[in-house]
Amino acid sequence: MARDSLSNTQNSGEALDQDALSQFRHQVKQAKHEDAVGWELTRKLLDAHSLDATLKRLLERIRDSQCSPSIQNALLATIMSQEATSPKRMGYVDSLKELTGFPPTKALRALCLYFDLVHPESPSDSNFDSQALETFIQSHSNPYDWLLETDHPSLLDLGAWDLSFEEELLDQFFPQIQNAGKSITLHALDRLQPGSQFGGVYHANQERLIRFSQYAREHLNFRFWGAKDMLDLSTPRELLKSYSIVTCHAPATPTFAFEPTRLSQHTIQEHLTRTKGEFKNVRVQGEEALEVKHRGRTLTFPSWKFAIRGPLALLDQVARRGQLCILSAIDSEVFWEILAQLIEDEAMRPLNVVFTEENIPKIFKDVYESLSSLKEGERCSLSKITPLRPQLPHALMPSPRGSSGFRFRHVEIRRGAVFSDMPASFTARQFSRMTEETPPWCLILVPAGKNS
Ligand SMILES: C[S@@+](CC[C@H](N)C(=O)[O-])C[C@H]1O[C@@H](n2cnc3c(N)ncnc32)[C@H](O)[C@@H]1O
Repeated sequence: MARDSLSNTQNSGEALDQDALSQFRHQVKQAKHEDAVGWELTRKLLDAHSLDATLKRLLERIRDSQCSPSIQNALLATIMSQEATSPKRMGYVDSLKELTGFPPTKALRALCLYFDLVHPESPSDSNFDSQALETFIQSHSNPYDWLLETDHPSLLDLGAWDLSFEEELLDQFFPQIQNAGKSITLHALDRLQPGSQFGGVYHANQERLIRFSQYAREHLNFRFWGAKDMLDLSTPRELLKSYSIVTCHAPATPTFAFEPTRLSQHTIQEHLTRTKGEFKNVRVQGEEALEVKHRGRTLTFPSWKFAIRGPLALLDQVARRGQLCILSAIDSEVFWEILAQLIEDEAMRPLNVVFTEENIPKIFKDVYESLSSLKEGERCSLSKITPLRPQLPHALMPSPRGSSGFRFRHVEIRRGAVFSDMPASFTARQFSRMTEETPPWCLILVPAGKNS
């Protein structure tokens, strides 16, 4: 019945992909679930005065979106048929229900939220100069001071966990931003499903969420998205195209510890099984999970814990969205794999060789010598040690129009977890207690602008 209703409104004739449909329904539901304020605001969009304009904007947003073509066509056809009278109206009602899981009015409200008709777009700095940023970074010890330099400061934090970094950042910078009469956009996301049994105390902290909502709205535009993969930022629309700073603190391991363009699937899986233990997907109390048999213990994690994406994907994402990118509290396993992608010398990207404590000094030679001599708190410019890679291939699809790759014009490396004048994340603050861990690394990256 429901399928018939959609094929009535869907004039492209293509089959609606059931996986894409259930994923879309889930995301629409999530948009409603996560944004109580926005949900209230959608009421106004559907009142008699606004309805026509709202539907017009909604159609435009759907056309411009990166939804799968089958969903996009089904949405367009359904919404365009909204003035239909009975019996066609039944098809419209059923189609909306099938696409969103909601009855008509709620469905349209949820779509307005999902396609972000509610929140005004935050302004961003269009005339930004990456050369000036490089000079700024070289002459300042705290890269976050860049937020005070720009007219429209904004920061996106990928894999934000408990939001303690956001709290430290606001404590340090909000008063100055407010006194300057400016507004900061602070966006954070994490792949953990809100309410999931996995993730424990590391879920976005509710007290912090409430605290952030109490800041003056004209000076702080804060949003947090849970269940959001940092490597797919096609939605929500509210995300800015470019942020003053993009951060990723303690990039997840093993997700970013193995580069798939360098290591075969077989090599990665074999290494994971040998070092972490046998693992498989299971269901725990109705939730998908990853079960790992590690040294005689059975551990469970979010199902995507061992989804290997590699550093190129992370670098591609931060370079697309950030004027400045800061990756902090990077453990050794992830660090050398990221570093290999930033350096011109291909010998540092050997095919199918997993980096280990034993082989890293031999593979990275002088680079290893120079970096391992850095003391905690010290910094250096990578290009002074070895030439930077002139072009990294895009790992995320689609590539920006007309772009065959990307590069960083400046890469600064710091040793240590916490730096006296910089806000730090929860994980960064744990390193001093982890006596078996070597000090982690921090990378401060300036992507080359389009014209540089
Ligand atoms: C080691 S924790 C670091 C958390 C926090 N940034 C910190 O430094 O304390 C890694 C975080 O990345 C999140 N994560 C892993 N893969 C992700 C992905 N593909 N998209 C978004 N978040 C992800 C995890 O849920 C976890 O919160």
